[in-house]
Formats: sequence, structure tokens, C-alpha cells
Amino acid sequence: MATRDWISFWDSKHSIYVNARHHHAHYRRIADDMRRYVPPDGTVLDYGCGEALAADRVAVVAGRLVLCEAAPTVRAAIATRSAGNGKIEVRSPEDLAALPDHSFDIVVMHSVAQYLTPAELGPLLALFHRLLKPGGLFVLGDVIPLKVSAVTDVLALLRFGAREGFLTAALFGLVRTVFSSYSRLRTTLGLARYDEKDVLATLAAADFVAKRANHNIGHNPERMTFLAWPM
Ligand SMILES: C[S@@+](CC[C@H](N)C(=O)[O-])C[C@H]1O[C@@H](n2cnc3c(N)ncnc32)[C@H](O)[C@@H]1O
Repeated sequence: MATRDWISFWDSKHSIYVNARHHHAHYRRIADDMRRYVPPDGTVLDYGCGEALAADRVAVVAGRLVLCEAAPTVRAAIATRSAGNGKIEVRSPEDLAALPDHSFDIVVMHSVAQYLTPAELGPLLALFHRLLKPGGLFVLGDVIPLKVSAVTDVLALLRFGAREGFLTAALFGLVRTVFSSYSRLRTTLGLARYDEKDVLATLAAADFVAKRANHNIGHNPERMTFLAWPM
């Protein structure tokens, strides 16, 4: 039930991005950080890709990019937008079960772990392990640490807004967020937070060798990215 609520939220018209400039800067930043991990012509799965507005920036260095999104309206929009790009395929999470073992050099799951229950995370790690080639890389990004205050999220957004030219909109956006459906859902459903040691232990239990990356993907340096290789 909780899972569906978050997916419905991401499928709805929401105001997470304070304006179009923020929206595009967000996806461009993620794509540019993500593609550093992609080997030339590599095969990439972006699980929980959201709107993937800058997917072409990843596709340009990849051989094949599979965008996987659970929210049906979002998925349909990505499919329409990427229809002219022969390297991009759009899939639902249910579609992934049919893919052969060792399909990908890289699997990225960025800013999704906070919406998952432990019962969902375990099977997903097993799926990614199966889908990765030997020597492939799983990038688990934007994991919210146990001890982080809302103030650090606010400051990270304001710094990003100052750099990308949407600072004033970010200030108004923050006020709007307090009264938004995201805030209400966050209060009722909560967001999963993770201890670094627990993430490493969970990845080890799923047969990955893992470490925390020096920098998070995206604009928020307080959140964590993990790099994990299947054993
Ligand atoms: C914050 S957005 C992240 C989108 C993109 N990866 C990014 O970093 O901007 C969260 C994404 O997680 C997806 N999501 C939420 N709960 C999920 C679940 N239980 N299973 C699969 N995807 C889920 C949503 O549909 C949404 O696209």
C-alpha cells in the first residue's frame, strides 16, 4: 500500500522541482554524474529513473540505456520523448524479470531507496546481481543517512539554486513544499534512512563487494552513494 502511494505521488503533478530551470538542472546534474561510471558503449539500467530529462546525455556515452520506471504516466512520457533515440529502451519494473542474466555493465538506482521497504530492497538487489555482468557495477545513489537534518537538505537546494540560477524560486518552493502532498506523505509514510554500515552489510549479504563513493551523485553531498560489484 505504502509503495503504491509513493509511486502514485511520483506519477502525479507535483511541485518537487521549484521551476523548469530546477527540473532540468536536476536531471542534467544526475546524468553527468552518472555517466562518469559508464564504460564506453556500456549497457546501462537506470532503475527508478523518474522523468530522465537528460537521458540522452547518458545514452551518448552508452551502447544501450534501459530506463525503468514504475509510475505509468511518467514511463509513457519518457517513451514518447526518447522514441527517436535508438539506444534508449523504456521498461516497467515487471519487464525486468524477462531480461537475460548479465545484461548490463552498470545498474544505477538513484534516489529510490528511501521509498522502498526492506522487503522490496532485498529482491531488487538479487535482480540487479543477476542482471549485472561479471565485473559490472551497481551504483546505489542518494541514500539518506540516519543522522541528517532537514536543514542540510534545504541548504543543499539553496546552494544548487544559487549555482544554477533558481535561488529565488527555491526559497518560494521551500515554503510551498511544507504545505505539499510530498510533506504529507513523508509524514504519514516516512522515508527510509540508512546507516552506512547497514547498507554495506546489506550489499554484502546480497553477494556484492561494496564501498561508499567519495561523492554522492546529484546536488546533495550529505546523502550517500555506494558502489557495489557482484561477487
Ligand atoms: C525521487 S524520484 C527519483 C528519480 C530519478 N532517479 C532521480 O534521481 O531524479 C523516485 C523514483 O522512485 C520511484 N519509486 C518510488 N517507489 C518505488 C518502488 N516501490 N518501486 C520502484 N520504484 C519506485 C518513483 O516512481 C520515482 O520515479
